[in-house]
Amino acid sequence: MDQEVYEILGITDNEHFRESELVKSLGIYGRNGIIDSGELYIEGDLKMTKIVSFINLKGGVGKTTVTVNIASILAQKYGYKVLVVDLDPQTNATVSLISQEHWQERSRAKQTLYDMFYDLLHNEKNFNINSAILKNVSDIDNLALLPSSLDLVQIQDNIPEISNKEYINFVDVLANQLERVKAQYDYILIDCPPNLGAITLNGINISDYYIIPTVPDILSKIGINLILNRIDQFVEKKHSCNIKLAGLIFTKVDTRTNLHASTKRELRDTEELEALVFENEMPTRISIAEAPVDSRPHVNSSTARSKSDYRATHQLIVDITDEFIEKIEAMEE
Ligand SMILES: Nc1ncnc2c1ncn2[C@@H]1O[C@H](COP(=O)(O)OP(=O)(O)OP(=O)(O)O)[C@@H](O)[C@H]1O
Ligand SMILES: [Mg+2]
Repeated sequence: MDQEVYEILGITDNEHFRESELVKSLGIYGRNGIIDSGELYIEGDLKMTKIVSFINLKGGVGKTTVTVNIASILAQKYGYKVLVVDLDPQTNATVSLISQEHWQERSRAKQTLYDMFYDLLHNEKNFNINSAILKNVSDIDNLALLPSSLDLVQIQDNIPEISNKEYINFVDVLANQLERVKAQYDYILIDCPPNLGAITLNGINISDYYIIPTVPDILSKIGINLILNRIDQFVEKKHSCNIKLAGLIFTKVDTRTNLHASTKRELRDTEELEALVFENEMPTRISIAEAPVDSRPHVNSSTARSKSDYRATHQLIVDITDEFIEKIEAMEE
């Protein structure tokens, strides 16, 4: 469809698209706005859901912290509709946004990502994407969460038993489920575990972009090359996957060490990375480390707010989020 037709239908942006009588009457909308039930294609100027994975094969580098905090600012400050998908059995993103009790209740109700995969493996139908997604989490309007479960680790262990053909299907499980709800969101941010197992590949598979959060230490260069190669290999095999690197964020930066400063310089000077490295970085801050105590992101955690570094750190997170929006928009052009 071209712009004129959108205008006749009163569709000027994502919100109007979702709310339009046209979409409501057809009911279903698919990847990049293609309406599945007909030949009608919405593309071009209309802005669509962007799916972004946060990946590093190294553990503890700040993937979850960056994901949850960018998501919260996108929703709280800018009013974007944001879904956080917690693909990690460690459930860190989940418990950074909802309480342990709430998570356990969702687990008992069989409405976590574990149940999504379990249903497929055992031919059951307990999981329902619409009831699994929790809306307005951490008291932030427009912030939604698809929670993980500690049990997800069992699924990862069971996958080698599945035949190769089924393995291919297995990588599409999340895609098939999210297809039903995707158009409700401006951004879907996926917090990945520190591996590229089949569960993580479910996230990579549907992502338009990925961001690498990394501590600028001595091993980070090797780690980054490994991720780039492994993702390239996956994209070569899985032709429907179009994931592209959108940025690299320095995390847990210690401004006192020369090592961090020299590694940052080196990575910023690397030809294929220089345009992708975020200007803004996430230093080590006490209010960031302590925010999850309240099961809330930094922006509205009372523990974070009680720390003297809160204001300055909040501004850093906003700056990173602004740059995130810029980087993703630049990729779309
Ligand atoms: N900028 C920061 N300042 C202070 N602490 C931080 C910062 N970023 C992350 N941390 C802390 O470091 C630890 C690891 O961070 P996080 O869980 O975000 O890493 P991760 O890469 O998601 O780890 P994993 O690989 O286990 O999923 C957490 O305790 C977190 O609170
Ligand atoms: Mg994590």
